[in-house]
Amino acid sequence: MSVRGAVVAGAVPSQASGERPLAEQVVSPPLPLPRGSLSEGVVAALRDGAPPPPAAAGDPDPWGDDLQLALHTLYELHYRGFAGVDPDLEWDTRLLGLRGELERRFLGAVRDELPGSPPVDEVIGELLVEPVDGSGISHHLKADGRWWQMQEHLAHRSVYHLKEADPHAWVIPRLTGRAKAALVAVEFDEFGGGRPERMHSELYGRLLTGAGLSRAYLAHQNSAPAPMLAVVNLMSAFGLRRSLRGALVGHFAAAEITTAPSAKRMAAALERMGAHPDCVEFFTEHVEADAVHEQVVRHDVIGDLLRREPELTPDVVLGVRATELVEGRYGEHVLGAWARGESSAHGRGREQAHGQEQEKEKGKEQGQVQG
Ligand SMILES: [Fe+2]
Ligand SMILES: [Fe+2]
Repeated sequence: MSVRGAVVAGAVPSQASGERPLAEQVVSPPLPLPRGSLSEGVVAALRDGAPPPPAAAGDPDPWGDDLQLALHTLYELHYRGFAGVDPDLEWDTRLLGLRGELERRFLGAVRDELPGSPPVDEVIGELLVEPVDGSGISHHLKADGRWWQMQEHLAHRSVYHLKEADPHAWVIPRLTGRAKAALVAVEFDEFGGGRPERMHSELYGRLLTGAGLSRAYLAHQNSAPAPMLAVVNLMSAFGLRRSLRGALVGHFAAAEITTAPSAKRMAAALERMGAHPDCVEFFTEHVEADAVHEQVVRHDVIGDLLRREPELTPDVVLGVRATELVEGRYGEHVLGAWARGESSAHGRGREQAHGQEQEKEKGKEQGQVQG
């Protein structure tokens, strides 16, 4: 839906048909399974009120499973929290201190990979050019991906899409004028234009159900690989720090600009595989909506923000490039695992990928989804 369409339609709260019973809707998910001593310490601090671990505990790799899961778990306190965990731990100064230290390490690693600061028009211009010989996940899935690979990718990305647009909402009070009004107009679309059944997170929930996967919030956090957690952690870091509001806006622009072409390929891949129409709908919605969102974000959000606060230009550039960086790392991880005949999920290897393949073959014989 276009921004204008959303505004004209207005916010009419309704008891939408097809809305799930409240009992099926997970508000706060269970704590994740730790992936090392740092994440183990964070989970123990939340579960038992134990003192948080020192930031130096665990695997020092800023891109690794242990740190990314620890950071992801600390950020979740600001979203929906965890079942059985005191919600006031969101503002526990020891946990905030730990989060700040982990953020510094993660964002330091991001900056290390992005030296210099090219002009903002140049980095945005590059996003608009689709490489002729595209080689990302959506290209692979469209050309010859298997159904189990599609399921893995959809499950990984649920860690973000079940709270789609939430991290960007943090920036609203940090903007003023046209930039604020335009960003809110785009967010209004992302949140369904006042209709819960049209929220993009809800469309993703229906996609998961259509793909035979759990749609519960963070149901797939334990299988999401570290590069996927990094994609979400980047948004949370930018959204929660006012000092990085320019980077959050850059992130938003990069996401909106690159979504439409890849959504078109994902819709084609799902149709080729004979997937449920609810799987396709999430992506067709994004082909239309993001063509409009891209224009609004570029001209009204970034344009107005930088007219008002030109000193934020390097941060906007950082946000655009960091988004490409983490998405690129996620794509390399997933495609690398698949090329080796392995599962891209955390904690699963070759055997599980092989098992999924056999399941798939069985499904085909029974006339289920074609892969
Ligand atoms: Fe969306
Ligand atoms: Fe969008």
